[in-house]
Amino acid sequence: MIAARPVRIAIAGTGNIARIHARALTAQGAAGDGTAAAAAIVAAMDVDGSQLDSFCAEFGIPGAYRDLPHLLSRVRPDLVHICTPPAAHREAALACLRAGASVLVEKPPVLSLREFDELTAAEGGPPWFATVFQHRFGAGQRRLRKLAASGALGRPLVAVCHTAWFRDQAYFDVPWRGRWDTEGGGPTMGHGIHQMDMLLDVLGDWTEVSALARTQARTTLTEDLSLAHVTFTNGAVASVLNSVLSPREESYLRFDFERATVEVTHLYGYGDDDWRVTPAPGCEDDVTAAWKHAAGDGGGEARSSHAAQFARVLAALRDGRRPPVTPPEARRTMALIAGIYASAFTRRPVTPADLAPGTAFYTAMNGGREAW
Ligand SMILES: NC(=O)c1ccc[n+]([C@@H]2O[C@H](COP(=O)([O-])OP(=O)(O)OC[C@H]3O[C@@H](n4cnc5c(N)ncnc54)[C@H](O)[C@@H]3O)[C@@H](O)[C@H]2O)c1
Repeated sequence: MIAARPVRIAIAGTGNIARIHARALTAQGAAGDGTAAAAAIVAAMDVDGSQLDSFCAEFGIPGAYRDLPHLLSRVRPDLVHICTPPAAHREAALACLRAGASVLVEKPPVLSLREFDELTAAEGGPPWFATVFQHRFGAGQRRLRKLAASGALGRPLVAVCHTAWFRDQAYFDVPWRGRWDTEGGGPTMGHGIHQMDMLLDVLGDWTEVSALARTQARTTLTEDLSLAHVTFTNGAVASVLNSVLSPREESYLRFDFERATVEVTHLYGYGDDDWRVTPAPGCEDDVTAAWKHAAGDGGGEARSSHAAQFARVLAALRDGRRPPVTPPEARRTMALIAGIYASAFTRRPVTPADLAPGTAFYTAMNGGREAW
């Protein structure tokens, strides 16, 4: 438990997403007891000195480091936000956990299920390991999760999960993008991961996936498109699209329950107005009232955002609790992605048992293969 003082945070990797982190942390208000700010960014680290210096100057961060072990031993932060490119996540997270610092890592947390299990084995509980999936934390998703779990919407029957985004060739020309060894995959791993995480957050464990993937239009070593259908333990089925070839961009999730359809249409973040609830005939009053009154787990921001997740992470650390998103939750999302790739490469349905330790797609997202 961290006493009534700010959670001392370091940020590793000071590029684009780190600026969203720093702004969201700066915006965290005073702690509940009013005695201290919720968080202080005490240090930052980057292998690129000019990037690091401009970041520290912009956010008034006192400690600038080019080497993470050095930062960890000198600063001893409570929490490190890992905002490096994906290939550097594993080593940075291991260094933090071994030094006793909790970790909040950007998506994708690591490049394979094997790396994921290696990291969670290094957790001390505390220090904890958590993943950034900010779209779990807007009010709409929290309401839906709560209502689905309570049974108020009836049985979930069918769902649609579309990530239809657009990235031109220049996007893939950045050296670490679109490669298995540095990004762990294409839009399934790098973009659709957010929507699939929302899908699993509501529908729970999956039992089987069938998928195809293509490199349809971009010059990239990974897919630029995947399509999947997924079966869940509760009997629901879902259709999943992950594309970066879609000029009219949209993130779309649709859940058809026995008693209502619940939909959200957004792009990189949703507010309350982006959700639509359509009750089944005869369920109008009950469903409308249930949606209105299911304010989610303890209120908080209506929009999905890094700030909404960080507020919960900081509150948990201050109380000595495990922060969200927990390793089993993040692992389940990673495993679905591994399953999509395994099915696309092997051209057959895949179950979680096919991704057990020692198997090819546990070890690497592409199972050691190169072409579809
Ligand atoms: N949650 C989201 O919505 C979201 C959105 C965009 C990106 N991301 C994720 O954030 C991460 C970073 O993406 P970005 O767009 O900010 O990348 P970026 O290229 O803009 O920034 C990465 C920074 O990390 C530094 N770096 C590289 N290797 C390093 C190492 N070994 N140690 C320390 N620093 C190192 C680079 O010099 C650079 O400053 C990726 O995992 C990406 O998938 C998440």
